[in-house]
Amino acid sequence: MKKVLITGATSGIGRELAIQFASKNYIVGLLGRRTDRLEELAKEIGEQAFYRTLDVTDFESASVIYPSIVKEMGGMDIIVLNAGVGRSSTLPDWEFDKKTIDVNVAGFVHGMHFAFGFFKEQGYGQIVGMSSVASHLASGNAAVYTASKHFISNFMTGFRQKANKLALDITVTDIRPGFVWSEMTEKNKNMFWVANTKSAVEQMISAIEKRKKRAYITKRWQLIALIAELTPQFVWDRLKL
Ligand SMILES: NC(=O)c1ccc[n+]([C@@H]2O[C@H](COP(=O)([O-])OP(=O)(O)OC[C@H]3O[C@@H](n4cnc5c(N)ncnc54)[C@H](OP(=O)(O)O)[C@@H]3O)[C@@H](O)[C@H]2O)c1
Repeated sequence: MKKVLITGATSGIGRELAIQFASKNYIVGLLGRRTDRLEELAKEIGEQAFYRTLDVTDFESASVIYPSIVKEMGGMDIIVLNAGVGRSSTLPDWEFDKKTIDVNVAGFVHGMHFAFGFFKEQGYGQIVGMSSVASHLASGNAAVYTASKHFISNFMTGFRQKANKLALDITVTDIRPGFVWSEMTEKNKNMFWVANTKSAVEQMISAIEKRKKRAYITKRWQLIALIAELTPQFVWDRLKL
């Protein structure tokens, strides 16, 4: 049985990833801060599921919890670094920006270091990072979120290069969803092309199993990414996103 560890498994995309991986006979490791939700999900999945309460910004605890849940799972083939926060706000909000950097950037980088070290030692593995189409955008309403996703996509490319340079059999898969229904997006009234969580996650798992380097979910969001890349800076400066 293949083994997958998922951060941010208590709701939305992470929860659905756990359910669908389990239904494909994977052993699943569930991480998140809300213990009651982890308990409930582990119960729903059954004996294939293991869980630990984890705040990815508590690096000291995370350094202990990552290896300990992997040991309990009997190993790890794939890690999905999915935990993230996001919110829209036109006025600057330092507390929220700091939290976003702590979770989406520092928490992600810490998880990546654990995973890369583990897979380097093991000789193989796959690291999946939950970025976003937002990694291609800049937004006055979500400046720190778009910047955090740009950071992690760029960071994943760097780690892909590290694996190549060191001739390691480590795949780095950058998942870039557009809008997907979840607790994060439920209050957002300005969405389009919104995917339901189940079908978005089916497409994510298909990309992960094909060991893709990057995947847009759903595929048509690649068009938005392309338009964004072709948009000149002076236009970005004037947009009101
Ligand atoms: N929904 C979309 O349209 C969309 C689009 C592009 C990318 N994404 C990305 O997809 C990922 C999942 O988001 P979602 O839409 O499924 O939202 P969600 O339902 O709000 O899920 C976010 C998950 O992250 C976890 N999390 C947040 N802070 C954490 C922390 N400090 N430590 C550990 N876990 C933490 C939450 O668990 P706890 O609160 O229990 O800790 C929760 O399980 C995020 O990285 C998001 O940026 C989402």
